[in-house]
Amino acid sequence: MAILLLPLFALLAVARATVVYYPPVQSNTNNLTFALNGTGAPGIYTSSVTPDKDYGVYNWCAMPHVRPREYKMLPREYTLEYVEVIQRHHKRTPYASNTFFKEDVAWSCVGEGPVFYGKGPSGVSSDVTEIQWQAFRTSQNPWVNTVGPGFVNTTCQLPQITTEGLEDSHVHGSDLRAVYAKRLGLSDRLDASLAQIRVTNNVITSQVAGALVKGLFPATKNTAVLVQSSTYDSLEPTYSCPKADAIRSAYVGGSANWTNHLTAAAALYAKLDAVSGTSNPDTGGWHNSFDHYYDNLSAKLCHGKKLPCSVNDTSLCVTRDEANTVFRLGNWEYSYYFRDAPNSAQYAALHYGAWFLELKSHLQAVQAGQSKTKYFHNVAHDGSVSSVLGFLQIAKMVWPGMGSEVVFELYSKKNKSFFVRVLWGGQPMQTSTPLGTLDLVPVETFFQYIDSMTGSGEELLAACRS
Ligand SMILES: *[C@@H]1O[C@H](CO)[C@@H](O)[C@H](O)[C@H]1NC(C)=O
Ligand SMILES: *[C@@H]1O[C@H](CO)[C@@H](O)[C@H](O)[C@H]1NC(C)=O
Ligand SMILES: *[C@@H]1O[C@H](CO)[C@@H](O)[C@H](O)[C@H]1NC(C)=O
Ligand SMILES: *[C@@H]1O[C@H](CO)[C@@H](O)[C@H](O)[C@H]1NC(C)=O
Ligand SMILES: *[C@@H]1O[C@H](CO)[C@@H](O)[C@H](O)[C@H]1NC(C)=O
Ligand SMILES: *[C@@H]1O[C@H](CO)[C@@H](O)[C@H](O)[C@H]1NC(C)=O
Ligand SMILES: *[C@@H]1O[C@H](CO)[C@@H](O)[C@H](O)[C@H]1NC(C)=O
Repeated sequence: MAILLLPLFALLAVARATVVYYPPVQSNTNNLTFALNGTGAPGIYTSSVTPDKDYGVYNWCAMPHVRPREYKMLPREYTLEYVEVIQRHHKRTPYASNTFFKEDVAWSCVGEGPVFYGKGPSGVSSDVTEIQWQAFRTSQNPWVNTVGPGFVNTTCQLPQITTEGLEDSHVHGSDLRAVYAKRLGLSDRLDASLAQIRVTNNVITSQVAGALVKGLFPATKNTAVLVQSSTYDSLEPTYSCPKADAIRSAYVGGSANWTNHLTAAAALYAKLDAVSGTSNPDTGGWHNSFDHYYDNLSAKLCHGKKLPCSVNDTSLCVTRDEANTVFRLGNWEYSYYFRDAPNSAQYAALHYGAWFLELKSHLQAVQAGQSKTKYFHNVAHDGSVSSVLGFLQIAKMVWPGMGSEVVFELYSKKNKSFFVRVLWGGQPMQTSTPLGTLDLVPVETFFQYIDSMTGSGEELLAACRS
């Protein structure tokens, strides 16, 4: 709990970015030998349900979050003033780009599609019918056959949040409500002066928000959520930062530190390609990382579907051991992108700095008594949550699974001093920085860390363009 203030931070009173990289701990996740030649899955991949006795372990289908059973209350002298949550969306179908040219399993979404419609404030324009999307294709449209059928005759949007993903979103919202609503004075209806929900331009985050808000604020019928223009959205994020992109391509792209694992996994790739009919090399990015195969295999397992077999040879199938190796390699990749590569801290600082500047301003406004907002919930993506973990330099990185969550809690003590507690998977986050475990860090120390990563807004903008 106690935080040692390093002299370094004392010198950083002026906002000026001086990013210091602190390497992560060594574990099976970032051990390439283990990822390639080890055994087992790095967590649960077949169900959103984690047994209570194991709660907190990595579950790709539904990551652990804050809920009453495991939540650690602080002593009475600490008053909870403000909570900001950022989470990845919940379970979904795969992205179209991650489906095989032709899949051997069916995936139907009849009655469970996303809903889109316009609605006015009153009168006839407010009296509208709910409109749900259902995918279809026809043989009359000749362009249909220029792309693979993927899941044959599917009615799904690829991607869309599935029924089970909506259930998980609802559970997530009601668990957060049980921990925070009474303490923050939040009623059963979303009151925009006290609580805000924010989404990205990718509609799957709004699909999650619908079910999440019902769990968080059960009496809410309809509500507005915040969204920034995709030109500069800080949450997904989509703002332009060429410097960050250049830093990342230098350590991903052609760097041997990156390509070694792809080369070493040639035999695994050959098998996966044989099942899926993907050529190597390909133009869809199947061989630049394990992302596509990981998504393709894990989405099926999380929804109780079988692993794929070749559509031409039903005896040629992806085995569970092969899938587990893909899952270990996927986690190795995320650890590399966001923690193991020495420039990953610099990357996260630039790529996600704008969101941290917003977080800092939310905390400052509450601290100064200038904001009534008690609760702010961001629904985002794996790239967003990974960047938060990279920015804070988490000790042990993983690929953030479905619904994974980081919670920033602001406490006051005797109305004088303010402290930040950061929860990852429902528990105080361990970092590799001098801040150690983020469990009641003095808010000024937390701000100094953000400043050391981003500098001021103007400095961040300039650094991105440098
Ligand atoms: C994995 O095992 C194979 C076969 O035993 C070996 O050739 C290879 O060097 C190992 N890879 C790593 C990264 O240890
Ligand atoms: C990496 O994993 C291998 C295989 O389990 C193990 O022998 C080796 O000691 C590990 N390396 C480190 C640095 O932990
Ligand atoms: C998995 O890949 C196969 C082969 O490319 C594709 O047909 C299928 O739609 C993919 N499935 C998912 C869930 O990504
Ligand atoms: C897909 O739809 C076509 C046209 O309706 C039908 O002929 C075919 O049997 C369907 N395929 C599957 C796998 O359901
Ligand atoms: C590759 O890894 C080594 C050891 O961590 C590091 O010194 C080097 O900077 C890395 N190269 C790149 C391009 O990231
Ligand atoms: C199946 O065979 C067809 C026709 O030879 C070929 O175009 C397709 O790529 C094959 N698919 C797989 C998954 O091997
Ligand atoms: C903190 O301030 C509030 C409002 O000014 C007051 O009601 C409360 O008693 C104070 N609490 C402490 C512990 O000083």
